[in-house]
Amino acid sequence: MWGGRFAGGPADVMRDINASISFDKRLWRQDLAGSQAHAAMLGAQGIVEPADIAAILGGLETITAEYAEGRLVEDPALEDIHMHVETRLAELIGPVAGRLHTARSRNDQVATDFKLWTRDAVDAVDAGLGALQAALLARAEEHADTVMPGFTHLQIAQPVTLGHHLMAYVEMVRRDRSRFRDARARLNECPLGSAALAGTGFPIDRAATARALGFDRPTANSLDSVSDRDFALEFLSAAMMAGMHLSRLAEEIIVWASQPYGFVKLPDAFSTGSSIMPQKRNPDAAELVRGHSGRLLGCLVALSVTMKGLPLAYSKDMQDDKPPVFEAYDLLSLALAAMTGMIETLAFVPERMRAVAALGFSTATDLADWLVREAGVPFREAHHITGRAVAAAEAAGVGLAELKLETLAGIDARIDARVFDVLSVDASVASRTSQGGTAPVRVREAIAAAKDTL
Ligand code: ARG
Repeated sequence: MWGGRFAGGPADVMRDINASISFDKRLWRQDLAGSQAHAAMLGAQGIVEPADIAAILGGLETITAEYAEGRLVEDPALEDIHMHVETRLAELIGPVAGRLHTARSRNDQVATDFKLWTRDAVDAVDAGLGALQAALLARAEEHADTVMPGFTHLQIAQPVTLGHHLMAYVEMVRRDRSRFRDARARLNECPLGSAALAGTGFPIDRAATARALGFDRPTANSLDSVSDRDFALEFLSAAMMAGMHLSRLAEEIIVWASQPYGFVKLPDAFSTGSSIMPQKRNPDAAELVRGHSGRLLGCLVALSVTMKGLPLAYSKDMQDDKPPVFEAYDLLSLALAAMTGMIETLAFVPERMRAVAALGFSTATDLADWLVREAGVPFREAHHITGRAVAAAEAAGVGLAELKLETLAGIDARIDARVFDVLSVDASVASRTSQGGTAPVRVREAIAAAKDTL
């Protein structure tokens, strides 16, 4: 390619460190689409003769068909996907292929390709997140009334409903989707036509190529255009955050499936056995989702560090932008599919959840609230009285609801028999009707609202 300037060829190791075709071949579709848009524009602007443009477009079409059949022949000497396409085009149509690179550079080309690829990736991830939300919603609806323990500090805190718990993840995924949507809106400006770094003297039409490739507009500054990888970093950061949410859900499934909890039974399809312990059923899929989230953070860190010291405009370090983004996309897609499958097929064990929900004096707050409401006791004092009731129940080895009325009245004379109405786990969850609360009526409303927006 640069035989005009160079007398000798590259060292073998130079060729190896320089080549990116092993991974950037994933951009082939975008590279060909970008070249088609560029060629059509060169023709429309009269920069290249119509006959030459027809030959170039015909050749690009042939290459598209070849690559779609998996007939891309990798050659590290040709460095990257851009040179592969250009070289193949020259094989097909001869020296006229050389006119395609008029008024562009691999610098604006790769930025355009990578943005197009990332845009598709965002759309695919959004669909995956939507499928996970649908799965969570279906299970939440099924379990809008199922009582389970709610935890803080992983200590039993107050009873909640399983539907409410699952809907918490629907909210997290909603924010994840909006992060990807934001990233998509910002990335959708076309760098093509920025050329190497300074723009070009040819009378190109950047609005036309931007439009042809589905971008909202061309980018504003040629230096920024070829050196900007914010879109990749935003993708990675949204992916990291989504992965972190998946990891938290995975952790819950792992804990819930552990025998001392016994809240869920793992489906065969998403667990593995042990090669030595015949009784084992391991939550490997959930553990791998949890593990993948660490690698997603690694991808974000890798590209952040690659970019942070780079002066304007393009530097070859930026060729390393693609592996972490491709890896993150693959990891997140797999994690999403596995998590959606698990959520769809997990067998919840409501009896066990309900039994555990009553442990740990989980309705103590309900007793304190009752004292405030029915006896006009200030909350801090009610908290203290309830603490004594918990101590008495603990000493007697029973739950709060099993305490005798005499015992409760002995602690505070203002307590009467009506208190037992609020001490059950069902009464507790049913009472939490504040907006966003765990009461089944609120959970059903939240499910209906989420279904609407989905
Ligand atoms: N393979 C290169 C990359 O991915 C394409 C851009 C090459 N530009 C250059 N000036 N060497 O970044």
